[in-house]
Amino acid sequence: MCLLKSLVAAVALLGAHAQAAGVSGTAIGFASGTTGGGSAVAAAPSDTTELTKWLTDSTPRTILIDKEFNYLGTEGKCTDCKCCIPESNTCGSAGQNAIDNSDWCGSYPTTTCTYDKAGIEGINVASNKSIVGVGSNGVIRGKGLRLTGVSNVIIQNIHITELNPQFIWGGDAITLDGTNNIWIDHVKVNLVGRQMFVSGYEASGAVTISNSEFDGQTSWSSSCDGHHYWTVLGYGKDDQVTFTGNYIHHTSGRSPKLEFNSFWHAYNNYWFNNTGHAFDIGESTNALIEGNVFHQVKTPMLEDSSPGATFAVSSSSAATCKSKLGRDCAPNSLVQSGTLSASDESVLSAMPKGESSVNVLAASRVRSSVLSNAGVGKLSSSNSKRQFRGQIAPVLSSAGPGASPAGPKPTWSWRTVGVKPTPSSFPTAFPTAFPTESPQGSPFGGKGGGAGPSGGFPFGWF
Ligand SMILES: *[C@@H]1O[C@H](CO)[C@@H](O)[C@H](O)[C@H]1NC(C)=O
Ligand SMILES: *[C@@H]1O[C@H](CO)[C@@H](O)[C@H](O)[C@H]1NC(C)=O
Repeated sequence: MCLLKSLVAAVALLGAHAQAAGVSGTAIGFASGTTGGGSAVAAAPSDTTELTKWLTDSTPRTILIDKEFNYLGTEGKCTDCKCCIPESNTCGSAGQNAIDNSDWCGSYPTTTCTYDKAGIEGINVASNKSIVGVGSNGVIRGKGLRLTGVSNVIIQNIHITELNPQFIWGGDAITLDGTNNIWIDHVKVNLVGRQMFVSGYEASGAVTISNSEFDGQTSWSSSCDGHHYWTVLGYGKDDQVTFTGNYIHHTSGRSPKLEFNSFWHAYNNYWFNNTGHAFDIGESTNALIEGNVFHQVKTPMLEDSSPGATFAVSSSSAATCKSKLGRDCAPNSLVQSGTLSASDESVLSAMPKGESSVNVLAASRVRSSVLSNAGVGKLSSSNSKRQFRGQIAPVLSSAGPGASPAGPKPTWSWRTVGVKPTPSSFPTAFPTAFPTESPQGSPFGGKGGGAGPSGGFPFGWF
């Protein structure tokens, strides 16, 4: 009881502090220490023009997204413009054609299409910004966020949507290129033309993507099955990414696709209803995959011809971590899913210091935790649910909650509060079978055989 009371007090203080600063909580994982706009007084822009100005200027800011900012039409439309019909589109208007990108379109048949220009390239966010949604009201419609050559940005509790979802190259929701200290938390992304998240080619540095929802349900599907293919693409050449507490659902590929020299620690995420692949791990990528739930995921990890170093924890390999990380790893749970097998122990040695000490939940707790915490409008429920539902609560272990954002960084860990019974099985309300058919052959072949634009797409176009 005493413990619970002090936790309640700690969380209440955290809430009070967070309210003043706009941002709730602090980043865990690689992006810990990210302060965004720091102590800048939180303010809400009045319209898209002001929002763009505040995002792009050189003033540290805490920008409240308290309503929908609709960029559709703000840059006009491209009417009857050049597009192509890729091999993957075998289903006409239920598929995705591609906005002309000659390198990518190659000899695909041409067609015309009309799209909104604002979606094509995101707003160029400057350094030292916190972008924070209010309640469940924060929506940026029709344009994404592009972080290039900047550092110290927090994006929390906003929904990015409607970036020409009909078209490949219609728009990316969040782009990182040459960044450091980026925290993306409680963000929801759906209905984009291209990537929900993309990094590269320059190093993205320290990044944490937490409690976010990648919702792939679409009427324009590159895999022709109502699922979005282009989900998360990690192409930065020195990225250190903590990917945790996320809900990735109704996708069909690239969830995520990782390549080049990066380290991804993916733990306690919930993948649901993926008709294609989740992980696609290429050259030089280190990935530690633990304590996740893959539920109705056809291919949890693609076989790759030149795979990076991957360690996906199973019950038989859980103890291997102990000698390298000083703790057991948490096995992944695969429910009505394909197999996941990867045991390159070099990942454990390559684990950057600090990241190894994050507290990883047992997979049996992950589904309910993610469903109640991930996405927009769940900041307060995240805290109260973590506090009261017998799962985990944040515990402050160094600086006090009143510490200035610029001062010594408080460190948090997760502590189990009481014991929650482990559900013996998942609810049976979910359909148990995968769709019987996958698209014939590789719908993304044809261009160098890669699953997507692995070669030859112009800079700035991924
Ligand atoms: C961001 O804030 C840091 C710390 O106050 C400062 O050193 C840096 O110059 C700022 N960056 C920009 C682009 O304003
Ligand atoms: C899972 O995906 C399949 C294939 O698109 C679909 O038929 C089914 O309704 C989905 N299940 C849920 C619970 O969304």
